[in-house]
Amino acid sequence: MIEIHNIQKSFNGKKVLDGIDGVFESGKMNMLLGASGTGKSVLLKCIVGLVKPDVGSITYDGRIFTNNKLDIKQEIRRKIGMLFQGSALFDSMNVNENIDFPLKMLTDMTRAERRERVEFCLKRVGLEQAGKLMPSELSGGMKKRVGIARAIAPHCTYLFCDEPNSGLDPLTAIKIDELIKEITEEYDITTIVVTHDMNSVLEYGDNVMFLYQGKKLWEGHSSEIMDTKVRELNDFIFSNRLMRDAKKVEQIEEEEQREEDQRQEEEKNRNK
Ligand SMILES: Nc1ncnc2c1ncn2[C@@H]1O[C@H](COP(=O)(O)OP(=O)(O)O)[C@@H](O)[C@H]1O
Ligand SMILES: [Mg+2]
Repeated sequence: MIEIHNIQKSFNGKKVLDGIDGVFESGKMNMLLGASGTGKSVLLKCIVGLVKPDVGSITYDGRIFTNNKLDIKQEIRRKIGMLFQGSALFDSMNVNENIDFPLKMLTDMTRAERRERVEFCLKRVGLEQAGKLMPSELSGGMKKRVGIARAIAPHCTYLFCDEPNSGLDPLTAIKIDELIKEITEEYDITTIVVTHDMNSVLEYGDNVMFLYQGKKLWEGHSSEIMDTKVRELNDFIFSNRLMRDAKKVEQIEEEEQREEDQRQEEEKNRNK
């Protein structure tokens, strides 16, 4: 579990994060949702320690991360897997070498143990045949899968994904989301996914936080999000025509259900 409290961050006098609180539980798809430029990536970078917040605290399973000693920070960092926007694979290394890299850097596994782990992770993401390929030979979806395999290879406890399905076709995007969710549940990982994709959120969001201009305006389960009364969130969701149509269908179905209930009620009364 990761807890953040009152995270604030400004760049050149401009406030990007304005006091954000949150709890991210393990085994769940925690999602940070918001339009571009609302501070999602900056918040994720604060949580990982790539950006230092001006104010606020971050704890990993009760251990303070912000302002702690370097060795404690490094110990926590070792347990973090990160899937960057655009996958960020090393172009000069093949798939096997990419996944092996964090094992070499972060663990004292033997060469044989590492080879076994690489094989296992590749298999887990459905790419057992791709070990010898170079990143330039992979499709967008495959790159993301390799990115996920590399992130989880050192047995990560925490997994952060920044827009994991951006740039992918809708079907591949869903498969990547699905894979992240499966892995999260299977290994009880504390996962945080940054996204602006309502599809992902509706399908996979266990705990969704909506960010708007550096503030958290809404938080809840994805099943509650369509009924929100928060205007900014409503505007965000229904800026998409498909979503507007979906909402209309939902309203019509509710109306029909009400009429049906009423009809049955009247029928019952008649038969009394
Ligand atoms: N290192 C930086 N220096 C200055 N401004 C930054 C820096 N990183 C992010 N910003 C600004 O912070 C705001 C939020 O950015 P970001 O978190 O990347 O948004 P998004 O929600 O799209 O991920 C943007 O206006 C961006 O320009
Ligand atoms: Mg971003």
